[in-house]
Amino acid sequence: MYYTLSKGPQGAPALVLLHGAGGSRLLWPPQLRRLPGAMVYTLDLPGHGRSGGQACDTVTSYAEAIVAFLDEVGIARAVIAGHSMGGAIALTLALDFPDRVAGLVLVASGARLRVAPAVLDGLHADFAGAVELLNRLTWSPGISPALVERGRQALLEAGLAVLLSDLTACDRFDVMERLGGIAAPTLVVAGSADVLTPLKYARFLAEHIPAARCEVVEDAGHMLMLERPAEVTRAVRGFLGNRAGS
Ligand code: COA
Repeated sequence: MYYTLSKGPQGAPALVLLHGAGGSRLLWPPQLRRLPGAMVYTLDLPGHGRSGGQACDTVTSYAEAIVAFLDEVGIARAVIAGHSMGGAIALTLALDFPDRVAGLVLVASGARLRVAPAVLDGLHADFAGAVELLNRLTWSPGISPALVERGRQALLEAGLAVLLSDLTACDRFDVMERLGGIAAPTLVVAGSADVLTPLKYARFLAEHIPAARCEVVEDAGHMLMLERPAEVTRAVRGFLGNRAGS
């Protein structure tokens, strides 16, 4: 699996960043990919970005691929940060491989990620049109048109097969009944203007994961880490700091 590593001081915690559906490591802002004080591993999931292999159509398969990655690079335990589908992978790791997870950061995610049929069915019928719709729902109003256009290009480049696999994986994902079994300290970060994973999803996570707290970035959309990198980075840095030594 392709990844970049930003090295922190000796003994710094490992932080693994997992992007969402149809994405790549570049969906994380540079501030987070190079967060001081942590060993930051930013991954391209299988079939995405520069990684080989194929995209998966279940979140469990992605979680297993991450465990294989942790084994390969020799990471016993990491703080797993995931955006959207990446958050679903992080939740699955915390549930099914709890000894590998030192903490969770769930950005614009949820315990269940049903995908609007207009998007899933539309991908087959009119790929460019469905991408346009998905991308429009991704950003909050007033965000730079250049960022929106880059998002659209990235989804087009990901291609039909990858988006179909990822959105199928999202649509099948549901751990709403299992959140009480998560022991890892958890930070939930959400944008108040997110329409793809509404604030309600974040509140549900924070209420049902025993050691969770929630930070809301006002007026930010689904891509809050690119819309408001400073605020999201500050939240993650605070979370890692509080966990120091654990
Ligand atoms: N956390 C908390 N509540 C959740 C939830 C989550 N992760 N996922 C669903 N729910 C709630 C819903 O709000 C709804 O509550 P309600 O009955 O009080 O209205 C209930 O559970 C059932 O919702 P859902 O499973 O989503 O089914 P649905 O038939 O109501 O709606 C969609 C299906 C696809 C239209 C809807 O999920 C949607 O609009 N999703 C967001 C759009 C999208 O495509 N996102 C992409 C994510 S990658």
